Amino acid sequence: MHQPTLGLLRQPATILMGRGQRHALARHLPAGARRALVITDARMAKEPAFTAMMQQLQDAGIALTIVADVRPELPVADILNAREKLADERVDVVIGIGGGTCMDFAKVIAILLAHGGKPQDYYGEFAVPGPTVPVIAVPTTAGTGSEATPVAVVSDPDREMKIGISSPYIVPVTAVCDPELTDGAPPGLTAAVGTDALSHAIESFTAIQRPATPGLAAERVFVGKSLLSDQYALAAAAAIGRSLKTAVKGHADAELLTSARDDMVFAATAGGLALGTGGTAAAHALQYPVGAATHTPHGVGVGVLLPYVMEFNRPARVPEFAALARAFDIGDGHGDDESLSHLVIAHVAALLTDIGIPPTLAALGMPSGKERWLAAQAMKATRLIENNPRPLDVETLEIIAAAAYRGEHSLLESAA
Ligand SMILES: NC(=O)c1ccc[n+]([C@@H]2O[C@H](COP(=O)([O-])OP(=O)(O)OC[C@H]3O[C@@H](n4cnc5c(N)ncnc54)[C@H](O)[C@@H]3O)[C@@H](O)[C@H]2O)c1
Repeated sequence: MHQPTLGLLRQPATILMGRGQRHALARHLPAGARRALVITDARMAKEPAFTAMMQQLQDAGIALTIVADVRPELPVADILNAREKLADERVDVVIGIGGGTCMDFAKVIAILLAHGGKPQDYYGEFAVPGPTVPVIAVPTTAGTGSEATPVAVVSDPDREMKIGISSPYIVPVTAVCDPELTDGAPPGLTAAVGTDALSHAIESFTAIQRPATPGLAAERVFVGKSLLSDQYALAAAAAIGRSLKTAVKGHADAELLTSARDDMVFAATAGGLALGTGGTAAAHALQYPVGAATHTPHGVGVGVLLPYVMEFNRPARVPEFAALARAFDIGDGHGDDESLSHLVIAHVAALLTDIGIPPTLAALGMPSGKERWLAAQAMKATRLIENNPRPLDVETLEIIAAAAYRGEHSLLESAA
């Protein structure tokens, strides 16, 4: 019997993408906006591109308040402090300029400006009661896709792991994605964030597929695989397959390098559009405790885990892995789905090794003997665990963690 398929997208009203598009920022403010709150970090605040954007906004008659001290990991207290310093200043638009951290900060302060309270009041799904102050996101890393997603990730000293605020109301109203802002990113950062984008494409494309009931999109922010998110996931995977290595390693041909950087900006936003409804799964669930224990960048931890999670999930997602192999243009167009599904895992593992992602959790710096703890912590990320195409429990996650710790793929057979 034909099963109805859900198609769902949650996306910015406007996405501007292309070299030099940051110069159009002032033309895409919400109607009537007079006062902007700009969120960035100390690095970006010193960049000539940032100064030029601020000048452009001022020339358009916009009064600016700039918060330029966003810190890595996004401690919740920083957001509340910034909100309190604003007192009753009116804010018509919040503009987040930087990596995922700055964009997520912008989303959360936009919630507080509209609804009051503290970030902790909005943890989880659907806790934001209505529209926020509009957010414009201007990414400077090609990775998180936060410019297009309904989630912000913060860290809270009262919790062992980072935590998400997920709500359709926090999708930025406008995303301005200018690859020139990513041109200066060093190889290690380009690799980490590009791997994050790859993980968004793969995990959302291979996520669970839920029955397309009329209530689904209102019950969950992340519904699993959907017809529409799949299109962006595959397009992101194809662009990453073409361009991640060149973007990381550089190229003597400047035009090729530029086009690889452009591709990665596209892939990041497309990955965000896929993740924004599809959601991620086991690799992200395990990354939260790995990140907490090793203090390594999000994208690197996810990258270490990804091939092991893919291998565990493969039996439930053979046609999807074969489709990813075709998107990566591997296997000469031949081969049945079964063999392509194996090939794509080896391909992803080799690509990640090539760009410097460690092959195991041990190589990442994870202390030994923590597999059970990793599994137990990962189980707490319920929305990610429930989004995995194969059911997960603490024993299964422990096996995946052990395989990833030691690089022993054969362990995954016992989880089958
Ligand atoms: N909201 C979402 O949908 C989503 C998705 C994935 C990850 N995240 C979150 O995003 C955060 C990570 O974001 P990120 O990976 O973009 O890193 P980041 O924002 O933490 O930035 C990492 C470092 O790179 C620097 N940087 C940024 N752009 C640069 C450039 N063009 N050139 C040189 N240096 C540059 C920053 O100053 C910072 O020092 C994490 O908190 C993660 O949990 C959010």
